[in-house]
Amino acid sequence: MAELDRRVAIVTGGARGIGRGCAHALAERGLAVALVDVLVPEMANTKAEIEGYGVPCLTFEADVADHRRAKEVAGSVLGAWGRIDVLVNNAGRPMPTGILDLSEEQWDTTIDVNLKSCFNYIQAVAPTMMAREYGRIVSMSSLNAHSGGVTAAVSRVAYAAAKAGIIGLTRSLAKELGPHIAINCVCPGLIKTELTQKNPVIATREPELIRGIALHRTGSPRDVAELVAFLATVEPCFVTGQDITIDGFQWNR
Ligand SMILES: NC(=O)c1ccc[n+]([C@@H]2O[C@H](COP(=O)([O-])OP(=O)(O)OC[C@H]3O[C@@H](n4cnc5c(N)ncnc54)[C@H](O)[C@@H]3O)[C@@H](O)[C@H]2O)c1
Repeated sequence: MAELDRRVAIVTGGARGIGRGCAHALAERGLAVALVDVLVPEMANTKAEIEGYGVPCLTFEADVADHRRAKEVAGSVLGAWGRIDVLVNNAGRPMPTGILDLSEEQWDTTIDVNLKSCFNYIQAVAPTMMAREYGRIVSMSSLNAHSGGVTAAVSRVAYAAAKAGIIGLTRSLAKELGPHIAINCVCPGLIKTELTQKNPVIATREPELIRGIALHRTGSPRDVAELVAFLATVEPCFVTGQDITIDGFQWNR
């Protein structure tokens, strides 16, 4: 097993949006990047962009809700590069259905893709991080975890519960995985990505929503990626167990 000199990151949901931004920000800082996503052509495009920074990139077609597949992905990354320094649990999907109409299947899928996915990948990388006494984990929660949703991203109960679950997971694991592994999560507000641009409610209400943001704009994937890259690479690091909101101060949430 060849040990790569450079640090290695896994970014789930790295094909597009915020995950693609995170992959760029980490590659810019010299990390090798493994992308995990279900969107194969988009992931191939992002891989080409990442290799443009002169760092290696691997791609894995995988549903992040699949526990066994997470172990396979981590095993393949270790087989190829011999180390995993950074995990960015970014993949997630919204769920706009309210409690009265939400099916059990919608609840389960939303929890699996947004929350269980974090468990899957953290459990897959934790053994090597602990053995090497180094690791940085950043998971994508949401402002919805604090606000309860509805207003901005039209994601309601199941999504808000899953994203709030990430905060509990983060706090608990900061204690369990310390002192060598730092784990945090970020809570983005309204970020312009394929996900939000396709949402007709957000598109219609965008001017009104922006008026309620102190910085008077929506965020970009780059905004979030810079924070994630900071948490994933800053040395020394004295931040762990935190949820950090990045929303331009959305006071009407
Ligand atoms: N955009 C926002 O305003 C916003 C706000 C708060 C939180 N978030 C969170 O940020 C993360 C990224 O959101 P985005 O706006 O970039 O969305 P996006 O839909 O543009 O990108 C999400 C990526 O995750 C991948 N993905 C989704 N489900 C997957 C699965 N089961 N297995 C593997 N890959 C999967 C998608 O294919 C896509 O490439 C999500 O967790 C989302 O909940 C986004």
